[in-house]
Amino acid sequence: MSPYHMTRTLPEDATGAALRDDVRHGLTRTPKSLPPKWFYDARGSELFEQITTLDEYYPTRAEREILLARAPGIAAATGARTLVELGSGSSEKTRYLLDALPLLRSYVPVDVSESALTGAARALLAERPDLHVHALIADFTEEFALPRTPGPRLVAFLGGTIGNLLPDERADFLASVRSLLEPGDALLLGTDLVKDEAVLVRAYDDASGVTAAFNKNVLAVVDRELGADFDQSDFDHVACWNAGQRWIEMRLRARRALTVKIPELDLVVTFEAGEEMRTEVSAKFTQDVVRGELADAGMELAHWWTDDAGRFALSLATVV
Ligand code: SAH
Ligand code: TRP
Repeated sequence: MSPYHMTRTLPEDATGAALRDDVRHGLTRTPKSLPPKWFYDARGSELFEQITTLDEYYPTRAEREILLARAPGIAAATGARTLVELGSGSSEKTRYLLDALPLLRSYVPVDVSESALTGAARALLAERPDLHVHALIADFTEEFALPRTPGPRLVAFLGGTIGNLLPDERADFLASVRSLLEPGDALLLGTDLVKDEAVLVRAYDDASGVTAAFNKNVLAVVDRELGADFDQSDFDHVACWNAGQRWIEMRLRARRALTVKIPELDLVVTFEAGEEMRTEVSAKFTQDVVRGELADAGMELAHWWTDDAGRFALSLATVV
């Protein structure tokens, strides 16, 4: 059996304390919102995996195509001995990197979803018994320490998940990633690209309703963790393109006027009929924007690779 460590930097009751703050804050302001990291309980992680297989949801396939084509180039450019992956989820696409990096010794998946980490580590260790896996249950928007593993390090942040951060959160996040890197280390960043609105909206509002179920699952999390009485059938899933911000916005729209009790917060929340609550943004990028945001954080865009159809990009950034 190969070495496998799981480290928790999130307190056991992290879902308790932080969720309470986030939900109180989000549901007592106008317009209402709920923060996205609470999508990923075990059910949410499962639903996201289903999203990645949908016809309409092209980002996973496009990023896989790039990884497959460019993994040898990434290996040559980085010589990585440790791969750190933020928001690693199922680590499905990561296999292309693991297989292509000849010097790789350690893999450090970082995720808030314990169920996703456990599942991914189990599957990986069966395939790669030589690999040291240090799974980290942590919030990548907070400070966390990396285990001591051999350099150079490659930090991967795939799936376009960076687009789920708001612009100021993104700047803070990139600065803290920069602070994890030493000279010779690199960041591999997956970003979805600006494209035809109809294609984007379809990717976040699929015909079979999996994305709708994923979006509404955040209500089940609030019900379970905070004793609330949200009923998923009182809400419709809405996905729309915000051209000014260049992001897809996911919302939940109340089908009728309703009142929701959240006993753990001592809070009663009212919704008007048709009222919309924002649950997630997914920003779309151009090369100039990515280069600029990396530069602002003290990193340099060294490679820019897209899939053949130009839908999605992988950037390799080095420290300046
Ligand atoms: N990288 C995978 C999964 C993307 S889904 C892919 O490309 O398919 C986003 C992942 O990030 C989920 O596994 C979710 O649990 C995790 N995540 C979201 N917000 C997070 C946060 N603040 N800290 C750590 N992990 C987070
Ligand atoms: N990182 C994914 C993305 O922005 C997350 C995602 C996909 C998502 N579909 C969603 C988040 C629907 C909320 C709702 O593409």
